[in-house]
Amino acid sequence: MRLRLIVPSAAAAFLMLAIPASAADGTPGAPGVGDSYYPTSGNGGYHVSHYDLRLKYEPKTDRLDGTATLTATTTQALSRFNLDFALHVNEVLVNGKKAAFTKTGEHELEITPPSSLEQGKEVNVVVRYSDTPSQVKINGYSAWQRTPDGAVVANEPEAAVWWFPSNDHPRDKATYDISVAVPDGLQTVSNGELKSQTSKLGWTRYNWRATKPQATYLTTLAVGKFDITTDKTSNGLPVLNAYSKDLGDNLDPAKASVGRTAEIIDWESSVFGPYPFNAVGGYVPNVKTGYALETQTRPYYSPSSFANGANVSVVVHELAHQWFGDNVSVKNWRDIWVNEGFATYAQWLWSAKEGEGTTQELADYVYNGIPADNDFWKVKPGDPGADNQFHNAVYNRGAIALQALRNKVGDKTFFTILKQWQSENKYGNGSVQDFVKFSERVSGKPLQKLFDTWLFTTTKPSAADAAKDGI
Ligand code: ARG
Ligand code: ZN
Repeated sequence: MRLRLIVPSAAAAFLMLAIPASAADGTPGAPGVGDSYYPTSGNGGYHVSHYDLRLKYEPKTDRLDGTATLTATTTQALSRFNLDFALHVNEVLVNGKKAAFTKTGEHELEITPPSSLEQGKEVNVVVRYSDTPSQVKINGYSAWQRTPDGAVVANEPEAAVWWFPSNDHPRDKATYDISVAVPDGLQTVSNGELKSQTSKLGWTRYNWRATKPQATYLTTLAVGKFDITTDKTSNGLPVLNAYSKDLGDNLDPAKASVGRTAEIIDWESSVFGPYPFNAVGGYVPNVKTGYALETQTRPYYSPSSFANGANVSVVVHELAHQWFGDNVSVKNWRDIWVNEGFATYAQWLWSAKEGEGTTQELADYVYNGIPADNDFWKVKPGDPGADNQFHNAVYNRGAIALQALRNKVGDKTFFTILKQWQSENKYGNGSVQDFVKFSERVSGKPLQKLFDTWLFTTTKPSAADAAKDGI
């Protein structure tokens, strides 16, 4: 027995020498980053630093052809890894070599390179794909919407899977080159700056570049016919706004609102600290859906936001997200209050500045106006649950929490907290609990009780608790 074992193990030792260590070592990357609301969002084992998207879109047939080139760095030895993607994939290359791939679940693209990837190495991933994205539904829904003259993709928390493969979680931010060819006569709108455009054989290609770290859900694209206006903030930041040519009666109020972007950025910079990106603007595509979204450097506004006339408040909200949400992003989706509570409070600050009601009056109005038996008070803004991520309570009860904080620490410390949260977490992420600890550190006051009252209970805070916090 003993002797016979020697022979095979010697052979095995010889074989192990012949196989590179990396090929034997890798394990599969996790199919999610561990987000409790969205277990399959993002992936484990690598970070992406840059997305180069080269796309072609034909609105008549809704056909999207794309080549996505990702620059990533492995954080573990990987035998395989996932990207998040819902469209049909034709080919995957990893470091220039064809890789095996398979779709699992609704939007997991599982990639097995010919040999394992070593830990801590840069890796180049190319995905070639084509599909009709508006027809690819997840739970009956596609974030890629066709419009009468084109299409638009903007959604939270999930949009990227309908147009490019990614590590789809706000914890992994990257820079972007987005190059899109569309039939001559159509335009595109995306993030950052339009660097160039060229026409050839009936197609016009637009090259957009976003050079600051950007979360996947904040990456956007619109195709159609737009009125484009340009402007500059007082710091010389370039502003590019785009309005669908089909807005009808909504066009003038949209322009009267989004057209104030430069002025609002100037004011918000004075309240939140330097604007974190190098371009700004907004766009209004011809869609029927009703929400706005803080897509980075260039928020998306629905025409319905302007159906009752000018709506500067929504612009104040989406631009405030450039700081709260885009510069400092959620660590997990349950942290949504670090986005929405602050963007709503920015609207209250704007109202106060315009002499339309102070932040205190607005906080009191929400607290006094909503009866204790209303479902509003059942949602915890600090952990609302995936189904209530965008519940009114996250916005308005969330903004009361900030008024309570301001009352407790005083104006000077409060505005220092807002600015310093931005500078210390620049291009990063922060959780609700990180903000609580941060506020305690900056103010030197215990604040857990205050935040528990306004963010973490499922009943209306008592009149006594409210009075204690000046609400
Ligand atoms: N963050 C957006 C806002 O500015 C809300 C987006 C809601 N998402 C959605 N798919 N309806 O408030
Ligand atoms: Zn918001």
